[in-house]
Amino acid sequence: MLKKEYIKQSQESETLLIHELSRLKSNQGEDIIRFGFGQSPFLPIQSAINSLKDRVEHKEYVSVQGIEELREAVAAFHNHYDQINISADNVLIAPGSKILIYSIIASFDDADVFLVTPSWVSYEPQANLAKLPVTRLQTNFENRWRLLPSELERACEQRENKDRPIVMVFNYPGNPDGLTYTSEELAALTAVFRKYNILVISDEIYGFLNHKSEHVSLARYYPEGTIVTSGLSKWCGAGGWRLGVALLPTRIEEKLKKTMIGIASETYSCAPTPVQYAAIEAYQIGDDVESYLAHQRRILRLAGNYVWKTLSQAGINVHKPEGGFYLTLDFEPFRHVLNSKGIKTSKDICEALLSEKGVAMLPGSVFGYDQDILTTRLCYVDFNGVAAMKASEDLGQEKELPENFLQTYCPNVIEGSKRIADWVK
Ligand SMILES: Cc1ncc(COP(=O)(O)O)c(C=O)c1O
Repeated sequence: MLKKEYIKQSQESETLLIHELSRLKSNQGEDIIRFGFGQSPFLPIQSAINSLKDRVEHKEYVSVQGIEELREAVAAFHNHYDQINISADNVLIAPGSKILIYSIIASFDDADVFLVTPSWVSYEPQANLAKLPVTRLQTNFENRWRLLPSELERACEQRENKDRPIVMVFNYPGNPDGLTYTSEELAALTAVFRKYNILVISDEIYGFLNHKSEHVSLARYYPEGTIVTSGLSKWCGAGGWRLGVALLPTRIEEKLKKTMIGIASETYSCAPTPVQYAAIEAYQIGDDVESYLAHQRRILRLAGNYVWKTLSQAGINVHKPEGGFYLTLDFEPFRHVLNSKGIKTSKDICEALLSEKGVAMLPGSVFGYDQDILTTRLCYVDFNGVAAMKASEDLGQEKELPENFLQTYCPNVIEGSKRIADWVK
């Protein structure tokens, strides 16, 4: 028998587990509102779908870094829409941005990995797999869950070994909070990044889903130390296609780039070739993609604002969403009532809401919050994105969507919000 103490500790991501649990309950006939899993409800852009159908016979392996035509298109697209300056030579294509984030972290023999609380579930396990120590940077509801430069500076100063490099994963619009950073906030943080020579992995996978199309890339402020990661999973609704991109700084340390490509060549080899060809179509600057994104943003804005309004009126601490499709709910105002019912952790809240109201969410604890911080993550995309997109397109882009749009196309968003509001009553 294998000795299990020699096997690394790692388990299936908890986001996937809750998805599985709510799917099982739905299959058993329970009426479940699926606010747990953060998958885009929209189809990929039509030009990419068509292209993928035509490219299935491209069964060959291609360059580890990604096919050149795609890297050119990705660089041009981000340079245009994010107003940054990346060369195709410094674009890396991979089967998802998750593995790219891991490759960057795993490129280091030794480094302090800085993560903001809250942040996406996979960063910390990735650092653990790479055997690198994690430092958590705290935020709070009053500061809109934003990292303050003073908190970053404090963590830099308190390190035991000041020679060790710092690799930080920074994500906005955020999963789980749905919030972004202003230009001023980015500039202030950049001063600290620069002072401590921090390598920042700026996870901007929801950047094009900023609800007002106002995303500002960190690479504009800190071009020399930022690796932007993104891909087709969120803005292009193609999570299962597995296509992620990393945009490396112009003067990236060559050894880091080589190591990342080395990790790629010894593990995944390349992103799926037909998907890379299809992605060239997705990364075309112009009216098609702008309209495709504008409709998504408008629908997400309407849905997110509805949930925010309903739940803040019910007394839950929640900030108005700015991008992506998540909200972090803070049940702190209900701590006494909840505690008196034996609900003491974020996990308890999720279990109670799933069993009493049939609403699935994720506990804040998986995003780095302490167990007894009463937060959950709500994902407001439990609707038919294809029908919603079609209706939005039929209405034209000029006007805001009418009030009754949600009743018709996103009824679970309304129903789920009501159930949560009802529960806290
Ligand atoms: C913040 C964040 N980063 C990265 C990813 C992973 O994206 P990909 O599908 O490109 O691996 C996700 C997916 O949920 C995410 O929410």
